[in-house]
Amino acid sequence: MKEEARFRIYLCGGPHCTASGRSAILKALEDELWAWQLDSSVDVRVSGCQDRCDDAPNMTVWPGPYHYANLTPELVARIVEQHLLHEQPLHEHLQPRRTRR
Ligand code: FES
Repeated sequence: MKEEARFRIYLCGGPHCTASGRSAILKALEDELWAWQLDSSVDVRVSGCQDRCDDAPNMTVWPGPYHYANLTPELVARIVEQHLLHEQPLHEHLQPRRTRR
């Protein structure tokens, strides 16, 4: 039986994030989750546009939401270790929560 996921990540699959390296980010994310043996406790899904296109590539971590932008494989590695493994979000890389008008 699959362990219930502790986190869910929505990696933006919109056009700007895709053009800004979403595939490399997804590969880095999967590699890091596997390396830390978190692959069964973190559910990764590809979302539609997260309305933060100027800061692509983006992803959102739940519980949260915690919005990370301008992702690089190196930043993803830090997010996995610090946020998902040690449950310490990288506050210096979080984007402010947006409110709908
Ligand atoms: S395409 Fe990713 S935030 Fe718009």
